[in-house]
Amino acid sequence: MTLHAMEAPSGRSHGQPKTTKFVLILIFVTLVFLTIIPVFYPLLGYPLYLLKASSPKPSPTTVYDDSPEPELRSSIKISQGEECDIFSGEWVPNRAAPYYTNTTCWAIHEHQNCMKYGRPDSEFMKWKWKPDGCELPVLNPAQFLEIVRGKSLAFVGDSVGRNQMQSLICLLSRVEYPIDVSYTSDERFKRWKYTTYNFTVAYFWTPHLVKSGERDDDGPTQTGLFNLYLDEFDERWTTQIEEFDYLIISGGHWFYRPSVFYENHQIVGCHFCLIENVTDLTKFYGYRKAFRTAFRAINSLENFKGITILRTFAPPHFENGLWNKGGNCVRTKPFRSNETTLEGDNMEFYMIQIEEFKIAEREGRKKGKRYRLMDTTQASLLRPDGHPSRYGHWAHENVTLYNDCVHWCLPGPIDTWNDFLLQMLKMEGVRSHQERLYSGDRRMRFK
Ligand SMILES: *[C@@H]1O[C@H](CO)[C@@H](O)[C@H](O)[C@H]1NC(C)=O
Ligand SMILES: *[C@@H]1O[C@H](CO)[C@@H](O)[C@H](O)[C@H]1NC(C)=O
Ligand SMILES: *[C@@H]1O[C@H](CO)[C@@H](O)[C@H](O)[C@H]1NC(C)=O
Ligand SMILES: *[C@@H]1O[C@H](CO)[C@@H](O)[C@H](O)[C@H]1NC(C)=O
Ligand SMILES: *[C@@H]1O[C@H](CO)[C@@H](O)[C@H](O)[C@H]1NC(C)=O
Repeated sequence: MTLHAMEAPSGRSHGQPKTTKFVLILIFVTLVFLTIIPVFYPLLGYPLYLLKASSPKPSPTTVYDDSPEPELRSSIKISQGEECDIFSGEWVPNRAAPYYTNTTCWAIHEHQNCMKYGRPDSEFMKWKWKPDGCELPVLNPAQFLEIVRGKSLAFVGDSVGRNQMQSLICLLSRVEYPIDVSYTSDERFKRWKYTTYNFTVAYFWTPHLVKSGERDDDGPTQTGLFNLYLDEFDERWTTQIEEFDYLIISGGHWFYRPSVFYENHQIVGCHFCLIENVTDLTKFYGYRKAFRTAFRAINSLENFKGITILRTFAPPHFENGLWNKGGNCVRTKPFRSNETTLEGDNMEFYMIQIEEFKIAEREGRKKGKRYRLMDTTQASLLRPDGHPSRYGHWAHENVTLYNDCVHWCLPGPIDTWNDFLLQMLKMEGVRSHQERLYSGDRRMRFK
């Protein structure tokens, strides 16, 4: 499946830090810290929206146990004994959005600059995510930057990960633009710095998460045939991340493409490679192994003290055909949660991620590694209207992914993923506060 994901972001990057209303912001942030202390409670296992859905679901193939889980999902405590899963909810109108445009933000990737390419409707920008039973605040850029002061955040994944990073840069641009501090001129490995806040954002391009290479640029579906070394680290990112405070790891769409799987330096099978005597193990096999190896890489890093956030699979929305067979996404409104359901490949990808995440978390916990889930799947599933469709390029341009129902227009629904991110960062603050209270001086305990 997909993509013009291989393409580099257009080089319209010139740092232009804005002067900030610094004192006001400080006062504001202090107030926010004093008022927002959402108490944070564990929410175990699978998300509520899978449990509450009415129709029977295909069950995952892998067995998982029900041993007690740590606080993997972010939830907000509403009242005694009641929690709110921020990832389960509905889209509601938001007249205040969007918070930036293609003229105020230079970080929008060419292929996600939908207004530039003539997208006629703009209602898709005017929604906000409303979790069932609580509120998810829209990202406050000053507050975000204050929380990440002196920290670093890396996006590890494919062009959808880059899409989220660019959304973040645009959302923060009301306060400050970062400067380019990349260590290479390779556009697939970017590093940005917010000088006022000493905050670094990086992007590591690794569409398969493991070591990979193109075996044939044509292949059975004319989208390339890839060699995936399923048990080998992609050192382009695994050697670079130790110093980071937060990793947001994601992946998905590239596993649709034909590929040959290697383990222990031998071909063990493939996904739709059509090579004689090579067993087709399906894309799910490659996907599971790739996540397993990526998490193993993280758990093996002695000096990595950061938090690993899995950003779950964001379903594509091709209708009336496959991506290369005339499929398109022409809706202009979100779904309500009762109008669609996670199923088929999307469900399988999602379940594989959750299962591998739990395994990794359990392993990592022994070594002091911390994992969190940013479960964007349901919110994204409900946004068939948020993709570029044919407005990711000029109509006459001959691009591989003509109708793009994978990436997200900016501004657009992907901005909400950064609302999730801020909420999760705030909860980390509460969590470490609680840990100090409970592990340290007993006299400081409440009650
Ligand atoms: C921004 O979008 C408008 C249409 O809303 C378009 O005319 C313009 O070229 C775009 N500008 C940039 C810098 O992308
Ligand atoms: C900036 O942050 C880094 C950690 O990301 C830290 O090592 C460094 O000392 C900080 N620099 C300043 C000037 O605060
Ligand atoms: C495939 O396997 C068959 C049976 O073992 C063998 O005769 C044939 O030569 C193999 N083909 C290739 C290309 O290895
Ligand atoms: C979905 O829920 C909404 C509001 O609760 C309701 O108005 C609508 O009829 C429902 N749609 C379906 C397809 O069940
Ligand atoms: C688009 O490009 C591909 C390969 O680059 C070519 O095979 C195809 O004929 C082109 N289609 C059109 C309509 O120009």
